[in-house]
Amino acid sequence: MAKADNKAFLKFPEGFLWGASSSAHQCEGHNHNDWVLWEKANAERLAVEAFRLIKTSPVWRQIEPQATKPSNYISGKAADHYSRYEEDFDLAQSLGMSAQRVSIEWSRIEPKDGRFSDKEIEHYRQVIKAIKDRGMEPFVTLWHWTLPVWVAEWGGWQRAETIQHYLRYCEKVVKELGGDVKFWITLNEPDVYTDFSYRRGVWPPQKKSFRTAYRVARHLIGAHTQAYRLIKQINPDAEVGLSKNNIHFDLRRHWLVDYLLRHLSEAIWNNYFLNKIAKHQDFIGLNHYFRYQHKESKIRLDRPHVYHSDMGWELHPESIYYVLKNLKRYNKPVYITENGVADRKDYFRGWYIENVVRAVHRAIEEGVDVRGYLHWALTDNFEWNSGFWPRFGLVEINYKTFERTVRPSATAYSEIIKQNGVTPPPA
Ligand code: BGC
Repeated sequence: MAKADNKAFLKFPEGFLWGASSSAHQCEGHNHNDWVLWEKANAERLAVEAFRLIKTSPVWRQIEPQATKPSNYISGKAADHYSRYEEDFDLAQSLGMSAQRVSIEWSRIEPKDGRFSDKEIEHYRQVIKAIKDRGMEPFVTLWHWTLPVWVAEWGGWQRAETIQHYLRYCEKVVKELGGDVKFWITLNEPDVYTDFSYRRGVWPPQKKSFRTAYRVARHLIGAHTQAYRLIKQINPDAEVGLSKNNIHFDLRRHWLVDYLLRHLSEAIWNNYFLNKIAKHQDFIGLNHYFRYQHKESKIRLDRPHVYHSDMGWELHPESIYYVLKNLKRYNKPVYITENGVADRKDYFRGWYIENVVRAVHRAIEEGVDVRGYLHWALTDNFEWNSGFWPRFGLVEINYKTFERTVRPSATAYSEIIKQNGVTPPPA
């Protein structure tokens, strides 16, 4: 395990990967999958709900009127990354990045049951080549939440048979593209997907059933473990993992009760899935956005110096340190495959990245084998049921002209990348 150099300047281990993340549906444009159908059916409703929220909540009052328009909720051309990926990777390269996470859209590769598209496979071959030609390491996600329409109609992850469909798709992709890819991410945040799509009933297919959610989770665990074996069979040198969304449960008010509550929450949310797949991962992909506190603590902390993203999410960069420490038990390399902030004025992003990087350095110092940081996201993109208004990009997109503009925070991130480190926090 590489050890970070602990001089005054917080230097990262040599070879540490710095980059950004994206997903196909959120940035490519012109997809045809279960989400696209859902967006068309729900855009009006989401616009009306946003209108009500803006009237009642101080956080939401700040958001752009764009949120009240149905067009905000239709992914359409997205960031037009499908045609402009070279331009986007040029920007990533100019910022000094050494890694790039992209996802492959299952519905493009296999638009009909068992019918694979050579044209789309070639497209992704070119995408991966474009990343490598610019000296960056591709991290390729095989499934980032969207399903081909035929899979969704058939019952999606509710049905055990979907695992076989998914494996057939993985086999095709890995056999075709595996020569150029070392890092495979089988699934993106299976827990968040299960929660939002099957327990809370917010995302397609909008089921609200704990039992179904549990079944879906079991199927996703099966899908990952079998995909792991399959990919390693095809390419024993591949590094296979998944991206897991972990939360910092900062519960410290009622000593014993909170101690137990914290451990229980961690066991269920942070560790259940990872424990199930522990023997089937070469690395852990960590996605991190949240600290969870008691309601009262949140109110107490609701002072001007407590920063929030445009979506009302508290910005607490130090949280990533605690989440990383929790992962130490798995004794695996960790790549941070997502971490970011919706900040259209680019007011907090630079500060947030700088402090997250400091917290990551602290975790490395204390023995967590973190090997890369991929910021979410390279460009602005389509934020699922919130649509286009949240701006997560290091690079801003003008959705009328598709012109790209590098945000100041990206330039600040680029400095960290170039120096492979960051200054310590002011005393
Ligand atoms: C997801 C991304 C999403 C990001 C910001 C992550 O949970 O993987 O698709 O855009 O969070 O909400």
